[in-house]
Amino acid sequence: MTADEGKRRAAERSLDFVENGMTLGLGTGSTAAHMVALLGARVRDGLDVRGVPTSEATRRLAEENGVPLTDLATVSRLDLTIDGADEFNPDLNLIKGGGGALLREKIVASLSDRMIVIADPSKKVARLGAFALPVEVVPFAAAALKPRLERFGCTATLRSRDGAPFVTDEGNHILDCAFGTIADPPALAAEIGAIPGVVEHGLFIGMAERAVIGGADGIEEILAPGTER
Ligand code: 5RP
Repeated sequence: MTADEGKRRAAERSLDFVENGMTLGLGTGSTAAHMVALLGARVRDGLDVRGVPTSEATRRLAEENGVPLTDLATVSRLDLTIDGADEFNPDLNLIKGGGGALLREKIVASLSDRMIVIADPSKKVARLGAFALPVEVVPFAAAALKPRLERFGCTATLRSRDGAPFVTDEGNHILDCAFGTIADPPALAAEIGAIPGVVEHGLFIGMAERAVIGGADGIEEILAPGTER
């Protein structure tokens, strides 16, 4: 089984948690894309849901698949967000933002009653940090924030696309901070989040309640500490 088949399997399982009438946060990335496509098929079969997309890419995908959309001007609470991750540890703390959508992803997840992560097995790690932590910064401060972030023990690289700085859906830049391992994710999240000019970072601490992992042997599910099955 390929990683992509595992992602699709996880996406399919996550839809078991979707109920009629729900407002859903629609994640970004290749795993979330499977979920949006499968959700579109359920909508065509009569499922009544509304989605808040976490990126312009997901908005387009949802529209193509016929998933009805709403926005944060219309709703201020969501029932459930389903999204991918770049890494998650046994506490279900996450690194996200590989696709550059971490700001909208975190806002939408924070407004949701529940968040389910969908992934292939490669995303499950004992300790976070092998994946470089994306930190979204205002363009004005990006150059100066590189050495500021490196004081935490990482190497920070300005993300680029086609030779120019990558620009997020909210008009910001991203510094990818390679740590190797992150000893204390909650402490690092608090420290980086407090730096002026940092808009948001990709550490999602205590937000996900369940990870659904699709692999060759079927589905594995991990619950965050304190979550009831
Ligand atoms: C986008 C994200 C994605 O969820 C993350 O990068 C995982 O992507 P994929 O499902 O393609 O592996 O955080 O900002």
